[in-house]
Amino acid sequence: MNENEKRLLTAVEERIQSFHQKAEADPYRLNYHLLPPIGLLNDPNGLSFFKGRYHFFYQWNPLEESHGAKFWGHYSSEDLATWRHEPIALVPSEWYERNGCYSGSAVVSDDHLFLFYTGNVKNDAGERETYQCLAVSEDGVHFEKKGPVITLPEGFTAHFRDPKVWKRGATWHMVIGAQTSEGAGAVVLYTSDDLYRWNYKGIIAGAGRDALGGYMWECPDLLEFDEGDVLLISPQGIEPEEDRYQNLFQSGYMTGALDVDSSRFSHGDFSELDKGFDFYAPQTMTDEAGRRILVAWMGMTDSQEPYHPTLNYHWIHALTIPRELELKDGVVLQRPVNELKKLRAGAFSVRSKELLAGEKWKFEGMGVESKELIIDVLKAGSFSIRLRNEAEIHYDCQKGRVTLTRRRLDDGSTERRRVDVSRVQKLHLFLDHSSLELFLNDGEHVLTARYFPRVSDDSIIFHSKENVMFSVEAYTLRS
Ligand code: FRU
Repeated sequence: MNENEKRLLTAVEERIQSFHQKAEADPYRLNYHLLPPIGLLNDPNGLSFFKGRYHFFYQWNPLEESHGAKFWGHYSSEDLATWRHEPIALVPSEWYERNGCYSGSAVVSDDHLFLFYTGNVKNDAGERETYQCLAVSEDGVHFEKKGPVITLPEGFTAHFRDPKVWKRGATWHMVIGAQTSEGAGAVVLYTSDDLYRWNYKGIIAGAGRDALGGYMWECPDLLEFDEGDVLLISPQGIEPEEDRYQNLFQSGYMTGALDVDSSRFSHGDFSELDKGFDFYAPQTMTDEAGRRILVAWMGMTDSQEPYHPTLNYHWIHALTIPRELELKDGVVLQRPVNELKKLRAGAFSVRSKELLAGEKWKFEGMGVESKELIIDVLKAGSFSIRLRNEAEIHYDCQKGRVTLTRRRLDDGSTERRRVDVSRVQKLHLFLDHSSLELFLNDGEHVLTARYFPRVSDDSIIFHSKENVMFSVEAYTLRS
C-alpha cells in the first residue's frame, strides 16, 4: 500500500469514527437498503457473483457528503438479503484516478474477480482526463491495481467513462458511455480476448444518430435475453416531454440487436426504467441461476440533493432493492428479487376490503415504517393511497393513469410523476424509513422515491373515489 493510499484510508477511518454513530442514529436511515456508513453514495458498481457471494460495489465519497473523488465501497452477501460491509475496494490514490475511481463493472475469469473502472483526473491545467482501468482480486476483497488498459480514443471528449464488461461467445465485450467531440451522447464498444488488451470497435448507438439526443450517455449496460438485446443508458440533456423525462437525468433502455462486426446496435425507442423521482445509473448482473438482476442509485444529482435532511447526520443516498428483470414482448419487467421474502417478519392481511365512493380507510396494525404491502385490486375504481401524510399514490381508473406525488425538499411544493396503466391489478410496495418503491402489475411499471415524512407517522390511508374492493397482504421487514 503506498503512502497516498494509507493517508486516504486513515482519513476515512477517522471520519467514520467521528460520524458513524450519528449516521446510525438518523431516524431516516433505511432499514433494508444498502447505505454508505457515512458520506455520499451514488452508482452501484461491479455487480457480480464470485466464490459463493454476491458483490455489490458502490460509488462512495466517505470524506464528504458531496460529489468528489470517489472510492469504491463494497458490500457482499450470500443471498441478496443479508449484507456484510467489506473493506474499501478502490481508493483514488494513483495519478490516473486521483479525482475519483469512477463507475465500472466486474467479471469473473480464471478464478479471479476483474474490476473495470474509470480513472477520473483533473490535470493541473484544470482539464479532465479519463482512463479505463483494471484491478484484479483473488479473494474478492483485496484488489491489485493494474492501471489503465484503455486511453481516450480520437473523436471524443474526456466525458468517456463507466466501462461495463461481459462475455459473448468466447470474446470479452465492453461498452463505455461517451460524448463525441461534437457534443453528442454515445455508447462505444471494445472487445478483448484476455481482458488486458482491448480493441476499439466503434460507436454502437447515439452520436446524434438517434432520435433521443442528449449531450452525454452515462453508465451503459448491454443485456442479452433470449428475446433479444437490451441496451441500458443514463442519458443527460433530454428535455421533458409530457409525462416523460421529468427528472434532471434519465435512465432507460432500448431493445434491439447488437451486431459486433458492423459495431451497430439497431434498436427501437428509448423507454424509462423507473417513472419515479429517484432512480439513476442502474447496473445489472447475471447470477449463477441465470437471473438478470438490476440495482440502481436511489438518488439524483438534482437541485433537491443539498436539502436532504440526512445530510445533518453525515450521510446521503442509498441503492434500490435488487430487482429481477424479464424481457417480455419488447418490455423490460422488473420484480423484487425473491430473496427479499427472507426479510419478512410479522405478517398482516386483510382479505377483501370494500370501500364505497368517498370512503376512507386507515390501514393499521403494523406500527413500523419499514414494510412491504401487496395490494390486489379485486374490483377496480379510482382511489388514492396516502403514505405517512407525505406522499400519495393516485389511481384514476377512467383515464387509466397512476400518479405519485410527494413534497419537494427545497420549496415545499408538491411534485408529481405519472404513468399510463390501463388497468391496475396489483400494487407491490416496498416502504423503508424514507423511501418507497412501487411495482405496478408485476413490474410493468416501477416508481421509486425518497421522501421524508414526520418520523412517528406510519399511517397509510386509502381513499376511494369510486366503489373499489381490494385485498392487502403486508409484512414488516427487518434489516
Ligand atoms: C453517474 C456518474 C458516472 C460516473 C460516476 C461518478 O452518476 O456520473 O458517469 O462514473 O457517477 O461518481
